[in-house]
Amino acid sequence: ELKQAFTALYGEAPSVTVRAPGRINLIGEHTDYSLLPVLPLAIPLGTRVAAASDSGGLVTASSRQFQGTARLERGGLGQLPATPWHRYLWGALKMLEGRGAPDSGARLLIEGDLPTTGGLSSSSSFTMAVLLGLSELWGLGLSAEELVALAIVAERQVGVESGGMDQTIIGLARAGAALRIDFEPPAVRAVALPEELRLVVAYSGEQAPKGGSARDAYNERVVGCRLAAALLGARLGVEPGTPPVLGRLADLAGEEEIARLPERGCAAAVAREAGVEVDVLVKLTAGVFSDAADVWVRPAASHVLSEARRVDAAEQALGAGDLAGLGRLMDASHGSLAEDYRCSTPGLDRLCQAMRNGGALGARLTGAGFGGYAIAAATPDTVEAVLAAANQVSPGPVFLATAAGGMERL
Ligand code: GLA
Repeated sequence: ELKQAFTALYGEAPSVTVRAPGRINLIGEHTDYSLLPVLPLAIPLGTRVAAASDSGGLVTASSRQFQGTARLERGGLGQLPATPWHRYLWGALKMLEGRGAPDSGARLLIEGDLPTTGGLSSSSSFTMAVLLGLSELWGLGLSAEELVALAIVAERQVGVESGGMDQTIIGLARAGAALRIDFEPPAVRAVALPEELRLVVAYSGEQAPKGGSARDAYNERVVGCRLAAALLGARLGVEPGTPPVLGRLADLAGEEEIARLPERGCAAAVAREAGVEVDVLVKLTAGVFSDAADVWVRPAASHVLSEARRVDAAEQALGAGDLAGLGRLMDASHGSLAEDYRCSTPGLDRLCQAMRNGGALGARLTGAGFGGYAIAAATPDTVEAVLAAANQVSPGPVFLATAAGGMERL
C-alpha cells in the first residue's frame, strides 16, 4: 500500500523501503543521559519509509500522517524548519552532509502507525527510518551502530538533549526480548521476557510535545543531573567528565553524599563551587540553558542513581521469572519519577493506580513523562482485568505490547 501510494505520488516505484519500530521502556527512566543503563523493548508499531533517488541534491518528503511537503537542499540546509516533522528530516540530513555523492537527492514517502502524542519514541523511529532509508538508497553502507550514533546527534540538534536509549533500541532490538543497554562502556545484552509476562500500554490523554513544553522540562532535568554530578565529583575528588555525568560516580556516591547535595541550585553557583567552567553545565547541542535558573539537584541525583540500581534488579527478576519482583520495581520507579524527578502528571499517576487496582503487578510511566504513556506488567490471569481498568481511565489507545525486532530494510 505504501509502495502504491508512493507510485501514485511520484510517478515511479520506490527502490528502497524500510521500517523502524517504536519502543516502550520497561525500566531505567531518565538514566541514559547520565550514561546509566536502561531496559527497553521495541514494539511492532513504527515508521515506514519508501524512497527513490532524485538528482541535484534535492530531498522531497511527504507524510501520510502530517501536512506539508518538505523540500530540503542537501547543499544548503539552512536553519531549523518551522514544521515540526520537517525538523527531524532536517536533523537526519545534517548528519549525512558530506556523505555519498553531493548531488544525490531523494523522494520520500513516510508513514507511521505509532501514536505521536509523546512517550513511544515516534520521533526517534522517524529519524532512524529516514537515516536507514537514505543510507540504503545512496549506498552509504552505514551499520546499525553508525546509524544509531548519527540519529542521537540528529535529534539533539532538533532541541532535546536526549540520551541514546531510543535510537539504540530501535536500531538493535531483538524480537522476543528486551535489551539491557549500557552506555559506558557501550554494550547491549538481550534479556528474554518470561513467557507469561503481559505488558499493557495505555495513553494518559495528556500530550507531551517534544517540540514544546516537554523539551524545556526535559533539558532542565539534564542540567540538574550535570549540576549534581559536578558537585559530587568535586566533593568525592573524582573527575565527572565533560559534561559531568552521574554515571561516572554511581559506584562512589553513597546515600550520605547525595543527602548533602542542595535541593535546588543554578549552574553559575555550582560552577563556582565545583571549580568547573559554567559552559560544561549549560551548553546543549541546540542552545544554552540559563546559568541563573534554579533547578532540582538532590532529588535528580537521588532518582537517577536509585533507578540505575532498579535496572540491575529488574534484569535479575526477569532472569529468575520473578514477575512480582519486576512489578514492585516498576512501582518504585514510578514513585521516584513522580516524587523526585517530578516528570509524572496527575493523569499518569491516575492511570498507573487504576492499572494496579485492576490487578497489575506494577505500573509506571514510560518514556520521558510530562504526559504520554504508561505501562503495566500483568500475567495471563490478570491481563484482561488490567486492560479493562486502563480503558476505564484512558481515552485510548490501550494495547498489549510484544517485543519486536529492530529496524530493517523490507
Ligand atoms: C526520552 C529520551 C530518552 C530518555 C527518555 C527518558 O525518550 O529520548 O533518551 O532520556 O526520554 O528515559
